[in-house]
Amino acid sequence: DVASKQKVPRDLSEQIKEVTKESHVRAENTELMLSFQRGQVTLPQYKLLLCSLYEIYQVLEEEMDRNSNHPAVAPIYFPAELARIKSIEKDLEYFYGPDWREKIVVPAATQRYSHRLRQIGKENPEFLVAHAYTRYLGDLSGGQVLGRIAQKSMGLKSGEGLSFFAFPGVSSPNLFKQLYRSRMNSVELTAEERNGVLEEAVRAFEFNIQVFDGLQKMLSVAGNRQRQSSTDSNAVHGKTLQIPG
Ligand code: HEM
Repeated sequence: DVASKQKVPRDLSEQIKEVTKESHVRAENTELMLSFQRGQVTLPQYKLLLCSLYEIYQVLEEEMDRNSNHPAVAPIYFPAELARIKSIEKDLEYFYGPDWREKIVVPAATQRYSHRLRQIGKENPEFLVAHAYTRYLGDLSGGQVLGRIAQKSMGLKSGEGLSFFAFPGVSSPNLFKQLYRSRMNSVELTAEERNGVLEEAVRAFEFNIQVFDGLQKMLSVAGNRQRQSSTDSNAVHGKTLQIPG
């Protein structure tokens, strides 16, 4: 009947939020995101996150640019307002210095994510909206709070190393999100394409979760090595043990 039909979300923006709801909860509860929320994010965590974001946004934005005239991309193409790559580069230079490009390290999950972005940019540009939604609307939502928390946690000065979180071209994130949703809803998709987009959005969240888990694992391995080597050196009468290689 009419009443029950009204409950079924028809707009893409409604559907995409609905199908990714559970994934969002899981993303929020990754170790990395919990560190942010508790105000305990560390510099090594944030630096590694920036490295992965660099690889992800580089490919996402390249593919958005290349497909900017595609009918499923054009309505949600907002490079002036949303593009993150220059900001991420600035932050990486701040933390790693001028030779930051040689210092980028990412977990395998980040490469799988960027590979997928490249693939859909080439084969299914109509799915790019799922990835753009997941990253940009996330950055404009929880991301705004996380930026302020990150500044406090790491004791950074007035936005230094935090360009990633700042959207100078977006004066009201909430109004912009409304505009973005209405543009998403204006994209004409067949039922099959729409299902593909919804599936891809769940996948996009999954990629993000795997990236967070992957870089957290890198940090725990590096931390264990450091603790191990300091234990070793203590064992050698306080002298520093030289480990070859
Ligand atoms: C929306 C918080 C992590 C993607 C939101 C909203 C909040 C929020 C408060 C606004 C909800 C609304 O307007 O109804 C957080 C917090 C996070 C987090 C605290 C972690 C500390 C993430 C991650 C992603 C993400 C990791 C994806 C990579 C999104 C998206 C939206 C959103 C796409 C827009 C939902 C929509 O209106 O359709 N988040 N979030 N979030 N978040 Fe997150």
